[in-house]
Amino acid sequence: MNVLVIGSINTDFVVESNILPELGETVFGQDFAMLSGGKGANQAVAASRLGASVAMIAAVGDDEMGRRETKLLKQENIDTTGIHIKIGVPTGVAVVNVSQGDNCIIVVSGANAALTVDDIRNQQDKILAADVILCSLEIPLECVVYACRQAYKYGKHFILNPAPAQDLPDELLATPTILTPNLIEYAQIFGLPENSQAADVVHHFKQYSQENMAITCGRHGVLYHQHGYAQRQSGFKVNTVDSTGAGDTFNGALAAFFDMPRREAVRHATAAAALSVTRKGARNGMPFIEELKRFIQEYQ
Ligand code: RIB
Repeated sequence: MNVLVIGSINTDFVVESNILPELGETVFGQDFAMLSGGKGANQAVAASRLGASVAMIAAVGDDEMGRRETKLLKQENIDTTGIHIKIGVPTGVAVVNVSQGDNCIIVVSGANAALTVDDIRNQQDKILAADVILCSLEIPLECVVYACRQAYKYGKHFILNPAPAQDLPDELLATPTILTPNLIEYAQIFGLPENSQAADVVHHFKQYSQENMAITCGRHGVLYHQHGYAQRQSGFKVNTVDSTGAGDTFNGALAAFFDMPRREAVRHATAAAALSVTRKGARNGMPFIEELKRFIQEYQ
């Protein structure tokens, strides 16, 4: 598959601590690492490792982090010629707090917020060459809307990972080939009450959701539609070390396997996401295709 990822690139400052501090509190952490991240870049790496031919349209700053992130993406066989260098703004960063295998993240967008519709328009060849266009929401919304329109204009599949959640124009909700929120994002996007539980989301999904939706539910797997019916792919049981990047792995894998029947594509993407949480960092656990195949074969 030819996958075009239009999304963010970050450097992640990952702090691991047994507990997360309350506002005004200081706690000791156990580990720190500077790793590569950004939902867009993570998704691109996941798709590339699983055998897709991947190009990215993105933005970095004219700084050491931007050069490093671009170099690492090249090493992952990703076409980086669509990565724009923005003068006067830093490369995006994320402070990732990991605790008990789970995480919370603060993103400072930097150059990601400076990506423009023209930056995408200038890379028309990449849009035309793509089978699947994959977007997430760490870049300006007008870029995502433009990408979506281009996908429809040229008959490309479009996957929108609505993360981090924000209000979306109807156009994006109505048209994407697949929308891939997690439970929290689903509740926010569809205006469910703030205290909604997983069961409320599942109920809403079964009643109102349509063909173009796959909800990632962490270790519980994925809810999706097939032939008009709500389906569930169970989660693969693994030892969770760090869940950062699991959603990105799912999305990259879904794009890479888009030509499989939906049920198989979701199964493979769920397995890839499970493997991704078994190592620290957003990308360290992302499987290559051979590892994924072996895992699925051996998993019973
Ligand atoms: O989804 C995980 C990613 O979210 C991290 O790599 C961080 O950069 C943020 O974008």
